[in-house]
Amino acid sequence: MTIVTGVTARVPAKLNLQLAVGPPRADGYHDLVTVFHAVSLFDEVTVEPAGRDEVTVSGEGAGQVPDDGDNLALRAVAALRRKVRGGARTAGVRVTIAKRIPVAAGLAGGSADAAAALVACNELWTAGLTPHQLGEVAAVIGSDVAFALLGGTAVGRGRGERLTPALAPATQYHWVLAFADGHLSTPKVYAALDRLRAQAGLAQPDLDAALMAALRSGDAALLGRALSNDLQPAALSLFPALRKTLTAGVELGALGAIVAGSGPTCVFLAANAERALELAVSLSGAGVCRSVARVTGPVPGAVVLS
Ligand code: C5P
Repeated sequence: MTIVTGVTARVPAKLNLQLAVGPPRADGYHDLVTVFHAVSLFDEVTVEPAGRDEVTVSGEGAGQVPDDGDNLALRAVAALRRKVRGGARTAGVRVTIAKRIPVAAGLAGGSADAAAALVACNELWTAGLTPHQLGEVAAVIGSDVAFALLGGTAVGRGRGERLTPALAPATQYHWVLAFADGHLSTPKVYAALDRLRAQAGLAQPDLDAALMAALRSGDAALLGRALSNDLQPAALSLFPALRKTLTAGVELGALGAIVAGSGPTCVFLAANAERALELAVSLSGAGVCRSVARVTGPVPGAVVLS
């Protein structure tokens, strides 16, 4: 018999190629229509049996990740335990998170860690939950957790947790991420959007046909033009320096430039790997961000590493 001592899962960051935000709901959330896209910037999460639940975090921004019950990966462990009801088998878990996805950067790093903890504990406990069942647990933990399980490119509705994979050719897109010197709190960015919109009429969000056509065509230039994010004006109002970063990327030849989710990471689409490298080097040299990363997408969601 093989004794499993620890299980490691790898999970990607996400971009929103479209993020259309509706009016605030009674529960404080906003109805969305979004096109999620998973990219090759990964966290790794290891789970092992332990006396009690605990978490340690290393890597990018580790100091800002809560190490108590607020930690999304620990909340995922607890939620899965309730669902599985596995008794002693599912007792305490030590969660070790190796971060490369920056914290509070608009890339859903916390949600990613929760998704990784779910697939890793499902394996550790030989719980046998289906992807659909894991998705149900994920939706309770956070709006982006279900997508971190699924990966690829997918349309999200509701809070973002109701997902439909997008049918698209196997095009690989080349992105440059510009990480900011600072953070943005997602609830504060949504609140800023509500304030900015207080005067305007509020429409229900709608899927962008031009964006979906661009994805079907696999044409990066079309996709670059179709990127959109309703949260961008709110993020810029709280973090005005991002304007300079976005402008610099466009001037340096990006096919599209957008704030990632609630920010403050800026995302640039390049025509190919070579252009992405040039753009990354030039953005670094321009001094308009803390650091840059080149990534590709789409990539699969959370997977257990064998
Ligand atoms: O679901 P999650 O915990 O990731 O959301 C973080 C915060 O972002 C929420 O508390 C809410 O303020 C805001 N949010 C929202 N509408 C969404 C998703 C998130 O207002 N659809």
